[in-house]
Order: sequence, then structure tokens, then C-alpha cells
Amino acid sequence: MSADDHRAALRRAETAVTGLRAVRGDRWYPRFHIAAAGGWINDPNGLCYFGGRYHVFFQHHPFGSAWGPMHWGHVSSADLVTWRREPIALAPSLEADRDGVFSGSAVVDDDGNLVVFYTGHRWRNGVDETDGNLQVQCMAVSRNGVDFDKRGVVVTGPAELPHFRDPKVWRTGDRYFMVFGACSATRRGEVWLYHSADLAHWEFDRVLYQDPDPGVYMLECPDLFALGEHWVLTYCPMGAEPDGYLFRNGHNAGYVVGDWAPGSDFRPLTGYQVGDWGAEYYAPQSFSAPDGRQLSFAWMGQFDYRIVTADDGWCGQLTIPRELSLGPDLRLRSRPAAELTALRRNSVDHGAFELGRNEDRVLLSRGGECCEIELTVDLRAGTAERIGLAVNHTPGGHETLVAYDDLARRVLLDRRSTGFGERGYRSAPLDTDELRLRVFVDRGSVEVFIGDGAATLSSITQPADGPRSVQLYCESGTAAVTGLVVHRLRSGWEQD
Ligand code: FRU
Repeated sequence: MSADDHRAALRRAETAVTGLRAVRGDRWYPRFHIAAAGGWINDPNGLCYFGGRYHVFFQHHPFGSAWGPMHWGHVSSADLVTWRREPIALAPSLEADRDGVFSGSAVVDDDGNLVVFYTGHRWRNGVDETDGNLQVQCMAVSRNGVDFDKRGVVVTGPAELPHFRDPKVWRTGDRYFMVFGACSATRRGEVWLYHSADLAHWEFDRVLYQDPDPGVYMLECPDLFALGEHWVLTYCPMGAEPDGYLFRNGHNAGYVVGDWAPGSDFRPLTGYQVGDWGAEYYAPQSFSAPDGRQLSFAWMGQFDYRIVTADDGWCGQLTIPRELSLGPDLRLRSRPAAELTALRRNSVDHGAFELGRNEDRVLLSRGGECCEIELTVDLRAGTAERIGLAVNHTPGGHETLVAYDDLARRVLLDRRSTGFGERGYRSAPLDTDELRLRVFVDRGSVEVFIGDGAATLSSITQPADGPRSVQLYCESGTAAVTGLVVHRLRSGWEQD
């Protein structure tokens, strides 16, 4: 198939998105999170800084609000908060990517081209997964960061492996490296490593990592990057069983920290650690910003239950960008990217005060669908059993709770009475006497950063109808609030 076929496929995809955009329902459509103008999205792909702009590509089905033949959607930004919609970058057009242009990543080559790697996906039976997948790693090249020439297959694996996908490419020294996820011949979840001198020819290096859990059969979307003195391997294990607070989601993302150098094995220094404690956080990918920060985006979504935004002509959004660092305890810290403060409008500083027993305080009486709340509480100086925020609070009494539970010593995000969609709560441990939260509320999601990024909780939400307020509340005791600032946030879309 030719470049013309690809262009024609891209045109059909754009037309479909325009149609969905025209009927899009916006009650939960994000104001400052990345989503497609219409249609479905999942994993972030090809994250990079190129030509003076940040580029975020994503898995995209332009023909409907459910997952389907994958394309790469695209947005870009000069400042990491104001996003411009770009044309769809990649569509199925080769025999090798006949049933989908799956997840992958980007690097800039020595000639200044943006080179992306993705998985070309085919169903063996041409219809669905029942007879397995045929997956290969493919390459495409762009001079301007917008229009891509497909260069075809660069890595073909053992044909019998059912899962073999999601290339993440980076450069160390004078060589390029690629990790991707595989299901081994004995059905174990593995990360495979390849290397290359020129990006076009790749050689098998080694199996870099095998998940110790024999029930895990595939590690989706692996990423390996240096942070401080160590290397972090993030991945999404498929097949892990729920275990207390762990692996509660149908789709879980986590990491191990270890040591690695070109030509060596990866030596893990930790076991599996949780990437985010929320209900929807998957397929994170990181990249290096020009100033050396390691930034990451993830998909706030899942495949297991129906998300009601699908009725609105779109489905799926990414997290806000996060800055990663490694603590001395070998745990990842992820903070909101510093640039996000540029979204703030009309900040109100409530200062320090004591919240009385069972007291509620309205912080925003309307407009709470697009805000950030910074809250600190001295837990030693109060007696409350729970202290926190009711966001998405609507006149019918629906709300989403973000609170510290002193009995469990955990921070929770509870969707029991949000209005629509999946219920249930998720929680993250807190092991300090100071509660420090940054909570980002968008029309269809809540992201909680605890203790300067020591833990995060991300979930999509579908609030009930009506104006959305934000309240502070306290249960069965008092709370010593040491700081509270409420920011209204502006939209991050350049055009909508
Ligand atoms: C993860 C994933 C990837 C795959 C892509 C397909 O969410 O299943 O492994 O490349 O989504 O859309």
C-alpha cells in the first residue's frame, strides 16, 4: 500500500472526528486534560519535545466512542498547558498495521527528524483476539512533527508469541535502545530489549525483565529511564489478581527500581510498587523535557466497564503532565508539572483556621468543575475522623469525596454518590502527620497529589447535573487547617 492510501485513511479519520465533534456532549469533557475532539482515546504515545513544542500522540479510534482500529491522534503545546489540536498522525494502511497502529514512542534522530516507533497489529483471524495477535514493531519518520512517512516493519518477533508490543525507544551514548512487552512461550510477562546504531536495524539484546508473578502473562507499555542514580522500569502487568489494596483495577500500572547499563542485565532493587492508587491510571509513558526533567502522562481510563461519556461522542482522557523524581526510599514521586500553575485564575487564599466538629464550609458555590485546591492540615492538632473535600457537589446532593481517613490512615477518593458512572473508592497510604493535598478537578476527572507527589490518586468522574460546588468538611472531631488555597483554572484548549 502507498503513501496515498495512508493519506486517504487519514482524511477519512478526520472526517469522522469532525462528525463526532459536531454532536459532542460536554458535561464531562475535559477543560485542561488531553482528549480527542471526538471519538475514543487510550494510551499516550510518542511523547517528545520537537521543533520548539511538546508533542503528545495518543491511541485513538476516530470512528466512534468505543475502542476500535487504532490510529495515533495528536496535540501539541509550546508551554505544556495550552494545547493545539493537530491532524491525526497515523492510520492503519499497511498489511503489517492492518488492524491497528498500536502504542509506541518517539525519538529525534541526528538529522533532526522525529522518528516514531509503534506496534503494527493484526488479528490472526482477521476479526478479533480469539486466535491471537500478530504484532511487529514499525517505524515512521517526520520532518515537521505533523506529517509522517511510514517506513514499515523494523522488529519481527517469534511469530507464535500472542503479545509483542508497545516499543519505547531512547538513546544512551551512541546507541538506541528499545523495550517492549511480550508474552513468553511459557506465558510469562516479560520486557524485551533490542538495540540499534541507526534506528532502522535492530538486534535482540536480551530479555530485560520477567515479572516474578507466574499469573502475569504480559507487561503492556513498558518504559525504562534513568532517574537520579538508578533506572526505573514502569509497566502494566496483565493477569495479576487483586490483593488487598493492590491490583484492584482491571488495568494496573506500576514500576520497579533497579540498575542498568548498556550491555548489562537490569538488576531490580525493589519489588513492584504502585504507580497511582486511583481507579483509572494506565499505560504511563515518560520523556525528557529540554531542561532534563522526566515528565509523564498516563491514560485515565480502562477497558472493563462502560464509561458513560461514550454516549457523548467521546471517551478517554490523559492525566495532567507529571514530573518524576526518585526518593531515597526508591519510590517514585510525581508532582504536577510546574507549568500547570499557569492555568490558575482567581485564586482565593483561606489561610489557616480550625474547622469545627462536623463543620462544612463552601469554598466554591459554582464553577467547581475546573479548579485546583491546595490543602494542608496538621493531623496532630485535630481530632477529626475524616477531613477533606466534597468536590463535584451538585444541588441534588451528589458529590465526590477526597478525604483523609484517620482510622485507616489513608487518603481516599470516593465516587459512591458522584452521580453517574462507576462507583467505588480507592485510597492511598499516608505515613506523615501532615496532610498535604493538591487536588485537580476537571469536568470529568479528579487527580489527587499527596504529600508533594509521594502518592497520587487518579479517577474519572461523571458528576450529576447542575452547578458544581466545592466544600471542605470534617467528621466527628475538629481539624487544624494550616493552609487552603482554591484556584479556578482556565481551559487548556487553544481551540475547541
Ligand atoms: C494498552 C494497550 C497497548 C496497545 C494499545 C492498543 O492500553 O492495550 O498494549 O498497544 O493499548 O490500543
